[in-house]
Amino acid sequence: MLRDIRNNYQKYKLEEKGLDNSPLSLFDEWLNQAISEKVVEPTVMVLSTVQQGFPDSRVVLLKELTAEGFVFFTNYRSKKGEQIQNNSNVSLNFFWAEMERQVRVKGIAEKIDSVQSEDYFKTRPRDSQMGACASNQSMEVDSREKLERQFEVCEKKFDGKTIPMPEHWGGYIVKPFEIEFWQGRSSRMHDRILFFQDEGKWRFKRLQP
Ligand SMILES: Cc1cc2nc3c(=O)[nH]c(=O)nc-3n(C[C@H](O)[C@H](O)[C@H](O)COP(=O)(O)O)c2cc1C
Repeated sequence: MLRDIRNNYQKYKLEEKGLDNSPLSLFDEWLNQAISEKVVEPTVMVLSTVQQGFPDSRVVLLKELTAEGFVFFTNYRSKKGEQIQNNSNVSLNFFWAEMERQVRVKGIAEKIDSVQSEDYFKTRPRDSQMGACASNQSMEVDSREKLERQFEVCEKKFDGKTIPMPEHWGGYIVKPFEIEFWQGRSSRMHDRILFFQDEGKWRFKRLQP
C-alpha cells in the first residue's frame, strides 16, 4: 500500500551554526557532497516555468554554478523557452534522495551570452550536438522515423565537419532571490532554512517543517 511507504530521515542535520550569508556556497557544498556520495543524477533539477498563470515543470541538468546563479542549456524555441520569454519568473527544485535533502530556488531566468553557450556546446559529445541540430524541441513530429530522418540529414550535412551551435540553442542562468534548504530529520521534524534577499543582502531564517 502506498500509505505504508515511508522513511525516517536521520542522516544529517542543518544548523544555523556555521552558516554565513551565502546560500550559493552552501548549495555548492551540498552539490559536491551529492556528487562525492555518488547520488543518482546529482545535477538533475526540476525547472518550473509559468504559462498564462499555470506552472509547467520538467527536468533539466545543472551545467554550471556561478556566483550569480544556476546555468542550464536548452532550445530557446522550446516550450520552456517561449514561457521564459513571456515570464522570466522560474523555480528550481533539487531532490537528493540519498542525502535526504531538497533545495528550492525562486529566481529570474536570463539568456546567457552566446559566446559562453558556444564554449559549452563545443564540450558536448558529438551525438548530443547532432541531437540539438536535429530536434525542434517541443514541436510535434509525425513519427519516430521522421525524427530519425532529421538526425540523418544533420549527420550527412556535417559529415567530417564541426557541428555549429544552432542559433536557437543556448543557456539560461537562473538568478536566485530565495533559496530554501531542507534537511530530512526524524519524526518529520525536518530542518528548513530559507535564505532571502533583504536590501541586496542575503539573510536567512528557520521555517517550521
Ligand atoms: C534526466 C533528464 C535530463 C534532462 N536534461 C535536459 C536539459 O538539460 N535541457 C533540456 O532542454 N531538456 C532536458 N531534459 C528534457 C526536458 O525534461 C524536457 O522534456 C524538454 O526540455 C522539453 O521541455 P519543454 O517542452 O517544457 O520545453 C531532460 C530530461 C531528463 C529526464
